[in-house]
Amino acid sequence: MIQLVETDRPYLVMGLLDADSIAYAIGELIRQAGGRVIYTVQNERLKRIFLDHSKQLSPEEHAALDIRFCDVTQPDEVAALFAGVGTLAGIVHSIAYANPRTCLGRELHTDAVADITLSYEISCVSLATVARHALPNLDGRGSLLALTFDTRHVYPHYNWMGVHKAALEALVRALARRHGRDGLRVNALSAGPLSTKAASKIPGFGQLSQLWQDASPLPWDPHSDRRAVAEAAAFLVGPLARKITGQVLTVDGGASIMGGPLLDFERAPAAGSPEQSIE
Ligand SMILES: NC(=O)c1ccc[n+]([C@@H]2O[C@H](COP(=O)([O-])OP(=O)(O)OC[C@H]3O[C@@H](n4cnc5c(N)ncnc54)[C@H](O)[C@@H]3O)[C@@H](O)[C@H]2O)c1
Repeated sequence: MIQLVETDRPYLVMGLLDADSIAYAIGELIRQAGGRVIYTVQNERLKRIFLDHSKQLSPEEHAALDIRFCDVTQPDEVAALFAGVGTLAGIVHSIAYANPRTCLGRELHTDAVADITLSYEISCVSLATVARHALPNLDGRGSLLALTFDTRHVYPHYNWMGVHKAALEALVRALARRHGRDGLRVNALSAGPLSTKAASKIPGFGQLSQLWQDASPLPWDPHSDRRAVAEAAAFLVGPLARKITGQVLTVDGGASIMGGPLLDFERAPAAGSPEQSIE
């Protein structure tokens, strides 16, 4: 039988905030495919505020979550995490941060260099920190997956996070080269806009989502398409991708290849419209 995910070793999925998090969608998909999942939440306070009060999860679903805490800016917390999780099949890094008042929004320029640096540390450098500490847990065979957003184009409001995602993709390639000898594969998945807490902090995220829906050759739904992202993530972090490393796989309905919005004649006809019945 072909297996999407490993079932003997668990996956560590980092960056759970609530049930809308991409981390949760990926973890759930891995679990449904027969894998075991350990999540990380940044700290207990965020767990109390967001996860514990999430009505989207039943008490049974809450109880089933295996959660550890890890702030990736704290090297001792990263070290303690990997010292405590045992052997892993793979790791998903679903973590990013940018101060929306300084690093995102209408104006790119800012004096808040410390905010830019912190955003870079959390959204990019931490991937290398995780790779370094995770190596002993992978027993010479495993994978690391980061989440990115289209870096070939420049989007309004995304400013410094766009810069840091470009650096993250470069880091994925650098880590892939460095860790091939260790049996560690490193890839990134570039997702279209999805409605999450992090996304809600991006000023103009609604407009960005609309841009996407207007341009995407395949319909793109910022709510339900987290499942499509999770399916591709499980593939990339799992054994079927065993010869794939240093790559960025885009799962976005196709919008990021487009030179502008779809014209009317390029759209799928609405159900029941006259065009739909033309043979
Ligand atoms: N939502 C989108 O539209 C979208 C699209 C493409 C890529 N992504 C990427 O997906 C990833 C997950 O974001 P999401 O949209 O699920 O939002 P989210 O808010 O659910 O997840 C972001 C996570 O990053 C964590 N984080 C921030 N600082 C941290 C720190 N110092 N230590 C540990 N964790 C920290 C947060 O606690 C949170 O759990 C991010 O890398 C994001 O850039 C999101």
